[in-house]
Amino acid sequence: MAKKVVSPGGNLDGVVELPGDKSISHRYAILAGLAEGKSEIANYASAADCRSTLECLRRLGVEIEWRDRTVHVQGVGLEGLKEPRKALDAENSGSTMRMLAGVLAGQPFPSTLTGDDSLRRRPMKRVIEPLRQMGAKIQAREGDRAPIEIRGGHLHGIDYATPIPSAQVKSAILLAGLFAEGATSVRESVATRDHTEVALREFGATLEGSRGAYRIHPRPKLTGRRLAVPGDLSGAVFLMAAALIVPESSLMLHNVGVNPTRAKVIDFLISIGAPVHIVSVQSQNGELAGDVAVRHAPLAGGSISGPQVAEMIDELPMLAALGPFTEKGIEIHDAKELRVKESDRIATLAEGLRAMGAQVEEFPDGLRVAGRSAGKLRGAKVDPQGDHRIAMALAVAALGAEGDTTIRDADCVGVSFPEFFDTLERLRGAEKPV
Ligand code: S3P
Repeated sequence: MAKKVVSPGGNLDGVVELPGDKSISHRYAILAGLAEGKSEIANYASAADCRSTLECLRRLGVEIEWRDRTVHVQGVGLEGLKEPRKALDAENSGSTMRMLAGVLAGQPFPSTLTGDDSLRRRPMKRVIEPLRQMGAKIQAREGDRAPIEIRGGHLHGIDYATPIPSAQVKSAILLAGLFAEGATSVRESVATRDHTEVALREFGATLEGSRGAYRIHPRPKLTGRRLAVPGDLSGAVFLMAAALIVPESSLMLHNVGVNPTRAKVIDFLISIGAPVHIVSVQSQNGELAGDVAVRHAPLAGGSISGPQVAEMIDELPMLAALGPFTEKGIEIHDAKELRVKESDRIATLAEGLRAMGAQVEEFPDGLRVAGRSAGKLRGAKVDPQGDHRIAMALAVAALGAEGDTTIRDADCVGVSFPEFFDTLERLRGAEKPV
């Protein structure tokens, strides 16, 4: 895999269209597959993870075509999925594996879900447990890791409180609930992203409840529809951080998803002094999207803990890597969940930032990255361990370092944001007069 050399500086300036949101794209694809009739999903995520979801759906008998940035899905209806001929490969995508586990638990045929080395190391008990309670027979590898074999059908509704706040697990249960006998309820201690709930209603499911407590009724008629995916805020945050770090930067990010269950990161950035403004917010398919303006500014730093962790789970690597560019540094606690993401994000970040000269203290449940007084970062060779968000976080930190940084296997960014390096280069001056 290719390495990438990132040189410091180069102020960012201009307007950006973000690729479609990864979380929303997965959900639209799955529900479009289960709906009756055709759906068109405009601005479907270019993320490799979302291609994995499409590929798994194809293997389940759903016809999908991708033309002109729009995914066309011929829905098969709730009863229409076919037994796959071989294991479904979710590759690097936890969302694909966990959400499809919910759908497959409701099918009258057996299936197997597998993934790449990283995904096969990640915990699946959190999704296996409630699906077993609903009546699915599930076998996993030792330690409840993938591959997982699912023998579904004959589910019954449950009332489940998720022990770990997880939108993927909540979604798996709600999706399984579509096929269960009786209603299925899910409660969570922190309201995680609600894209599944919004999309279920959009497709015509009967879902009661709000923030953190939902109940789904089985066997609704889901109807295919036209949808447009807003830009990915979790990807946008890397560009926002780059603009905050490099002096004289100013960016306008167009049509970014700002669903309140995702946008806490914007509140946090504002709280540490970032000039971020959201303008012209609109609702599309029940999801909010707006234009986000950001420019360079000195940052105070701060700490993140408790419910904030689940609310900003995917943004934590970038926020931690902002530490050396803040007055007080960034401290994160209650985030041991970061250790079971695409990599052990606490360890991978600590190692990468230390290699660049940052002062990092690692805790079992988080880390503290010292602020500006600990000294300027210096370019180094860093290894994101195949983790897309770590690669982007370190690349952005490299913009504010002294000297070049070499990022190993940098094309892992394609998992969520294949255009990341090209976009960064374009905004850093390719279009400016020399
Ligand atoms: C996601 C939920 C989060 C997040 C992941 C995407 C989703 O995971 O980290 O990148 O689309 O539901 P958890 O549900 O495991 O917290």
